[in-house]
Amino acid sequence: MKYNIAVIPGDGIGPEVVRETILVLEKIGELYRHKFNFTEALAGGCAIDACGEPLPEKTLKVCKSSDAVLLGAVGGEKWDSLPGNKRPEQALLGLRKSLGLYANLRPAILFEQLKDACPLKSEIIGDGLDICVVRELTGGIYFGEKGQKNTNFGKSGYDVEIYSEEEVRRIAKDAFEIAMKRDKKVTSVDKANILESSRLWRRVVKEVAVDYPEVTLNHMYVDNAAMQLIRNPKQFDVIVTTNMFGDILSDEASMITGSIGMLPSASLGGNIGMYEPVHGSAPDIAGKDLANPIATILSAAMMLRYSFDLEKEAYSIEKAVKKVLDQNYRTRDIASEGAEVIGTKEMGRLIREALI
Ligand code: NAD
Ligand code: IPM
Ligand code: MN
Repeated sequence: MKYNIAVIPGDGIGPEVVRETILVLEKIGELYRHKFNFTEALAGGCAIDACGEPLPEKTLKVCKSSDAVLLGAVGGEKWDSLPGNKRPEQALLGLRKSLGLYANLRPAILFEQLKDACPLKSEIIGDGLDICVVRELTGGIYFGEKGQKNTNFGKSGYDVEIYSEEEVRRIAKDAFEIAMKRDKKVTSVDKANILESSRLWRRVVKEVAVDYPEVTLNHMYVDNAAMQLIRNPKQFDVIVTTNMFGDILSDEASMITGSIGMLPSASLGGNIGMYEPVHGSAPDIAGKDLANPIATILSAAMMLRYSFDLEKEAYSIEKAVKKVLDQNYRTRDIASEGAEVIGTKEMGRLIREALI
């Protein structure tokens, strides 16, 4: 079978982690006789430099005519002083919105091999941690009305958090469907003690829950959820939450996996899925062969599973990652005592070698 993949390496460590991932996919193609066709496109800071805008029309066209999108990361200090709608990060929002990717799955799983890299005590970790954060991705404060205006007290800036019933209903349904295949527990995270948008969110999630009597639903305020993720992460199975709360909580949850360099993601909801690591362009380590490519490589596994229905192939990647960790190879971010510390390229090479 032939699959067309749009590849957006982006900025900072993006190109480094994407390169290793493409090579992994190529090896999967050889082993399982698939043809992966990669079309590179510019987005983010590099697109601003080359074409004057973060998300060129041509890039959107490449994505729309592909079967899936693989993205590294965008952003960097060089572009930080540009106006909001011209910044590299705008490319991500544009891609998510135009591809209709309202559901962002961020599975935070602590691999057995990385227990030492997780900052939590072993009695908190117990026999392992496995949380799926389901983040709403095309609504909320990211996409509400925003701007700056003059007031009597000088300039004011504002961003409106707004959710429609339909936006909440569809992401809640997805979360319940995912929970049905897991431990059948959904925690909906909001700030319903303060925010009107959260009160609507909570009501609609409750309505959706009626169709899933087997799933246990609880509601939690976001401040408490942030604390509970550290105090007792085992209480969570599926967390469903808004765009901004999901952004913040998933970075927090990434430490459960040992490092943000481990956390993959899938953005779904439209015809074409987009797959990217949860981390950013990590300017502090860019170009130094220090980045952990595993989050991106595991995102490719999610692509094989969700976009192409290639479960065996996805599993092969996940197994290869675990095998390399079993052999005690670690990038710096997940290294603990006694580990063999290696760089981005070597980690990619070892994972490819472990593929069967
Ligand atoms: P970041 O995720 O880039 O980095 C945070 C910290 O984690 C840094 O110390 C970095 O070195 C480390 N880190 C991140 N990924 C790693 C990896 N694969 N291996 C090892 N260490 C890793 O977040 P930031 O510093 O807040 O943001 C930097 C830039 O990235 C900003 O411009 C931001 O807007 C952008 N950003 C982009 C995305 C994306 O493209 N999806 C996501 C988050 C941030
Ligand atoms: C992420 C990032 C993005 C977000 C930014 C870079 C737009 O932090 O994918 O988690 O906030 O969604
Ligand atoms: Mn983020």
